[in-house]
Formats: sequence, C-alpha cells, structure tokens
Amino acid sequence: MDKRDTHDFWMQRCLTLAARGLGGTAPNPLVGCVIVRNECILAEGWHHRAGEPHAEVEAIRAMGEGQIPSDATVYVNLEPCAHFGKTPPCANLLLERGASRIVVAMQDPFPDVHGKGLELLRQSGVHVLTGVLEAEATWLNRRFLSAVTRNRPWVILKWAETADGYMADESGIRRQISGPSAQLLLHRWRSEEGAFLVGKNTVIHDNPLLTNRLYGEKQPVRIVVDPKLELPAYMSVFNNQAQTWVLNEAVSRISGNLRWMAYGHNLFPVLFDAMHEDGSNSLVVEGGPVTLQRFLNSGYADEIRILRSKKQRWGSGIPAPAFHGTLRETQALHDDDVFIYSL
Ligand SMILES: NC(=O)c1ccc[n+]([C@@H]2O[C@H](COP(=O)([O-])OP(=O)(O)OC[C@H]3O[C@@H](n4cnc5c(N)ncnc54)[C@H](OP(=O)(O)O)[C@@H]3O)[C@@H](O)[C@H]2O)c1
Repeated sequence: MDKRDTHDFWMQRCLTLAARGLGGTAPNPLVGCVIVRNECILAEGWHHRAGEPHAEVEAIRAMGEGQIPSDATVYVNLEPCAHFGKTPPCANLLLERGASRIVVAMQDPFPDVHGKGLELLRQSGVHVLTGVLEAEATWLNRRFLSAVTRNRPWVILKWAETADGYMADESGIRRQISGPSAQLLLHRWRSEEGAFLVGKNTVIHDNPLLTNRLYGEKQPVRIVVDPKLELPAYMSVFNNQAQTWVLNEAVSRISGNLRWMAYGHNLFPVLFDAMHEDGSNSLVVEGGPVTLQRFLNSGYADEIRILRSKKQRWGSGIPAPAFHGTLRETQALHDDDVFIYSL
C-alpha cells in the first residue's frame, strides 16, 4: 500500500468504529479513533453515547498507561475538540500523551471547535494531515452536520413500494408490502434515528405503533401530524409507551409521554425547533404519500430510503413519489431491495 492507501485504510477503520455509535451519540457526532504503529493497531475506540468519553479518550484508555510512541499515528474521523464540554478537550489530551502525527478526515463545524483543535495541535508541533476520506466522513456524520450548520434535523423520507412502484392501496385497505427482513431493518432504523413521523391518514388506515420492537432498547420519538385533532385516543400511537408528539394547528399541552404541539401555519419550523431543543438530529418521515410529498415540496428532504418488494406487483394503486436523487447505498434482502438516495 502506498501512503495515501494506508491513510484511507485506517480512516475507513475509524468510520466503521464511529458508526457503532449510531443511535446513541446524538446530539454529538459519530467518531472513531485508531492509534497505529508499524501498520498494526495499538489501540482503538469510539464515542458510544452523548456524555460519555470521546473516541480519542477511549482509544488512549485502551492503549493503557504511558505515552503514544513517537512513530505512531493517531487516526480520527473528526477534528479533536478544543473546548471543555461534558468532557475535557481531546486535543489537549493528545498533546499530553505525546501524539506526534494525527490524520483527520474533516474539520468540526461546531463553533466551539471549528479549526481550533487542529490549530492547537499544529502550533504544538504535531504533524497534522486533514481531508482523508472527507466525503465518506461527511456522509457518516450528516445528521450532526445538519443540526450544527442548519439548526435542523437530517430529514429522511422512507417508504415501502411494490415492484411496480405503488405504495398504498387506493381503497385505503392496509396491504403489507415488505417481508420480514425489511421489517427487521426498519426496526433497526428506529433504534438509530431520532424521530419517526406519519400523517394522520396513515394512523387511521394502518394504526402503526411506530416503536422499535425488534432491535435493542432504543426508542425514537413518535410524531403524528393531525392538524384538526381528529384522531381517536384509542389509536396505538397514543398508548403512552414512548414519547409521542402530536403536531396540530392549535393545541399545546403535555400529558405523560404525549405532547401536543401547536404549529399554527408553520409546521416545519416548529417541528425542527422542537427537535433541536430535544437534541435529536434525524427525522424519518414514514408516510403516507401526501405527507411524503409535502416534505418533498418543502425542500426539507435530504435522503430517501426505499424498501422495494421483489414479489408484490399490484398493477394499480397510489404511486410512490417521484424524485431526483443520487443512489448512495443498495442492499438485497430476501423479499425486498433497499435503495438509499441523497437529494
Ligand atoms: N408503503 C408505505 O411505505 C406506506 C407508509 C405509510 C402509509 N402508507 C399508506 O398510505 C395511506 C395513507 O396516506 P395518505 O397520503 O392518504 O395520508 P397521510 O400522509 O398518512 O396523511 C396525510 C394527512 O396528514 C396531514 N399532514 C401531513 N403532512 C402535513 C403537513 N406538512 N402540514 C399539514 N398537514 C399535514 C394532513 O391532514 P389534513 O388533511 O387534516 O390537512 C394530510 O391530509 C394508507 O393507505 C397507508 O397504508 C404506505
């Protein structure tokens, strides 16, 4: 491997480690760190959850007592922090432990850090290389970057569609499109993303729970758009088992896990501000077609995830929304194909 390939290789390891924190670190970023010497891993770590040690601290702890060898390189996918948050600055820790070479994927846009961590390291004589796998690192931390730079969550539109492109029956009758592996994947997403939103007709027709019941303990916030508060209280989404927000035109109140939130005529800013305050940096819009289309029309859609059945062909129905995106990831499941696009 030449030097560039070597850097890419170890940075990819950082990204793989960082991704393990998905669902736990919000509002913090996903970060992995690997300390490498003579093409061997001396130690590695990742940020597990908000409030817990940063990736660099985890890696240095894993290395044990003593200094980082002078011929070792520290790889980390985000600029080490330079401020006192819930934990002391990682840039200072790296200096104290004698780091002499650091490779970073990207700068941290968080105002307290933004370039200051890299500057401190450089001024202290550390050899710093940045920009390694920057595009991949940016994609991995898209939720965090959206919250920090746009004050709004990363918005993912998700739907299931038949092989011929339909996502709902015209009569409103609930028809299952996806197979069991896609269901499992959806519950995994529910453990990874901050909130899941549906329109009121989906609650009426499908009565979804919107909880994660198949993948660990983590639950997203459930959000229902019910402008005139027409949904009956016995719908499953109001069962008080998880935090639930009811976006409506006029009423604001809280009862147990249920929070009614009045948006007047400004749904998107009210929703995004509430999520920002809640420290939640990603929103999945699960449908139906009208709600998905409103997000698309608003321009507040960043990513699309489609679970396309290999087996179901309906010949008619309500078509899935049309869009122009860049295909990012694909996955073949038993009964379905998964397509992930960025917009
Ligand atoms: N294949 C899939 O992945 C999938 C997923 C979910 C649902 N579905 C299917 O989709 C069908 C229901 O979809 P649908 O399109 O009829 O309804 P829907 O999207 O579930 O609900 C639409 C209603 O929600 C409210 N709403 C949504 N977004 C809003 C916004 N930005 N601002 C204000 N109000 C908003 C509006 O209520 P008002 O009319 O009161 O203004 C709107 O009419 C069901 O048959 C269900 O089975 C399929």
